[in-house]
This record gives sequence, C-alpha cells and structure tokens, in this order.
Amino acid sequence: MNDKLALPVGTTLDRFIMRKQEAFPYATGELSQLLRDIALAAKIVNREINRAGLLDVTGAYGQQNVQGEDQQKLDVIANIRFIRALRNGGEVCTIISEEEDDIIQTGNHKGKYIVAIDPLDGSSNIDVNVSIGTIFSVYRRLSEQGCDGTEEDCLQKGDRQVAAGYVIYGSSTMLVYTTGHGVNGFTYDPSLGEFFLSHPTITSPTTGNIYSINEGTYNYFPEGVKQYVNYCKENDYSARYIGSLVADFHRNLLKGGIYMYPATTKAPKGKLRLMYECNALAFIVEQAGGKATNGSQRIMEMQPTELHQRCPLFIGSTEMVDKVHEFLKAEVEVG
Ligand code: AHG
Ligand code: MN
Ligand code: MN
Repeated sequence: MNDKLALPVGTTLDRFIMRKQEAFPYATGELSQLLRDIALAAKIVNREINRAGLLDVTGAYGQQNVQGEDQQKLDVIANIRFIRALRNGGEVCTIISEEEDDIIQTGNHKGKYIVAIDPLDGSSNIDVNVSIGTIFSVYRRLSEQGCDGTEEDCLQKGDRQVAAGYVIYGSSTMLVYTTGHGVNGFTYDPSLGEFFLSHPTITSPTTGNIYSINEGTYNYFPEGVKQYVNYCKENDYSARYIGSLVADFHRNLLKGGIYMYPATTKAPKGKLRLMYECNALAFIVEQAGGKATNGSQRIMEMQPTELHQRCPLFIGSTEMVDKVHEFLKAEVEVG
C-alpha cells in the first residue's frame, strides 16, 4: 500500500481556528469568522496572482495611492478582494488600507473589529514572478457598536492588536498568524483549496547570520546602521534582500536574521507604514520570541497619529536587534 495513504490529512485552518475558539468559553466566534474571511480573500488573490501572466493583471494601474506610489493592477484587485470579504463577513466596522486615502466604513455598524491591511506587499515584484504578500492587523473597536468606527478606533497602538498575520504568495502560499498565543503557519494546498497547519508554534531563532536591508541606499543610512552593516560583513553574514517585506521577514523568522528599513537622509521617517506593515509583523515576531523596534522604541508601543504614518523598522532575531541598537546608541552618545 502507498505509504502516503497512512498519513493523516492534517489540520485545516478552519479546524484549527475552531479548536482555538473552543478553548475560550466566552468567545463569540466573530474573530474566528474574520480570520476565515481573510483566508477566503487570500485564496482568491492567490488564484489571480498565480495566473497573473495569463490575465491582464500585471503592470501599472495608472494611478497613485495617497503616498504618491504608483499602484499596480494587482494592488487594486487585492484591495477590492480583501475589502469585499471583510464587508461581507460582517465582523469589521472599519478598515484602513494602504491603497485608500481615508478610512473605509463597511456599513457593519455592529462589527466589533477594525482591520488595517496592506493588501499586496512587494508591488515591485509582481511582474517578475517573485514572492509577494498581504499583511493585516486586527483591533477591537473602542467606540460603541451601532455606528461607524472612528479614526480613534483606527489609531490604536500595536500592543492593542487582537490578531495579526500575513499571507506569503511564494513557491508555496502560506498564511501565518497570531492571536497572542504563539504563531502558527498554514500552507495552501491548491488541489484541495485549503490551508493546512504546516508550521506549528513558530519560534524566531535568538540569533542568525542573515541581514536584510536595501544596501543601495547605504550612503543615506544613519552612522549606527552603516557601522552595523559593516559589522555584518566583518562577521561573514549573508546579505539577503528580496524587496518584499513579507518574504524577507518570513525567511528571517524561520532561519534567524534581521530586516532593517532605517530612517535615511532621503526618507527621514523611513518608508514602511506603521499601521499596516510594521505593527502586524512586530506582533508576530514578538509572539515568536523576536523583537521589533524603530531603533529606540518597541514598535508596538508607538502611538500612531496618522493612518499612513511611516516609521523605521528593525525586526527579527532578538540578539541581532539588540546589536544594531548598540551601534545606534553609540552614535547618539557620540552625537
Ligand atoms: P508595498 O509594495 O506594499 O508598497 O511595499 C513595498 C515595501 C516593502 O515590501 C519592501 O520591503 C520595501 O518596500 C522595499 O523598498 P525599497 O525598494 O526602498 O528597498
Ligand atoms: Mn507593503
Ligand atoms: Mn502594498
């Protein structure tokens, strides 16, 4: 008999979410439903990405988002898919998206949750068949149910997240998420149309030898970052930089490493967005035992003031983040 038949089918994402919910006697199931809505939209986006070269969905859309970046057609498609799934699900009252200037009201006044989303991360890689992703954060609303969510509901600190995750559309498609009880990863089986638990209890190695930074902008780095990059070279670390945050982060999370997007003289606030890139990955990395800071402060303790706020990011293995801090601190002390 084929040995493979002896193997169990595995735990589907739906089953896993349900089991987790059962462990909380007062859980109403709304967060579970929200996560299932995100998984559904991810499957649809995955389908469109997989056939991207065959459909007319590669290339620029012809417009810019609020941050002045050229939108790609798939940015717009993914944005529509995720918003539609969250609106139909009914649990979310308000959404912040990289692709929308203002907060999006779903019309679900009874919805308890707020979602912040980067529908498609790594746009520059879409047309060249390189891994891209989706990043999301979930918060409980602060305002009373029964009306639209407010901007205050949306501008909560990262440590108020109740769930966060990402989807990586890579050599296989994975969904990785946390609800504050560890991090679990699920791999998509396209033949069955299901995500299966493949990476239970992901932990970040305390150190590693991979550093990820866009070194082409070295001349604009703060002195402490320049020195840390030189330190990485002196210690024979490997440089790995895809240019898709999700993909760079995912690799470093599994293998041990650090991802850096510092403030530079060209981009004094950094490039990445606090609300729908940094906070979600910070929650995940901390749940896996790693660290995420802006160079001096925990990302999750930053008080957001704007929906599309940018912030520097140093994220990954604890000892590596601590090391870059030493260089940054020395730079401040020297003045
Ligand atoms: P997005 O495609 O959502 O705008 O994000 C792009 C981000 C991130 O994915 C990546 O790490 C970073 O931009 C790369 O920036 P550089 O090209 O400046 O290195
Ligand atoms: Mn992004
Ligand atoms: Mn994006």
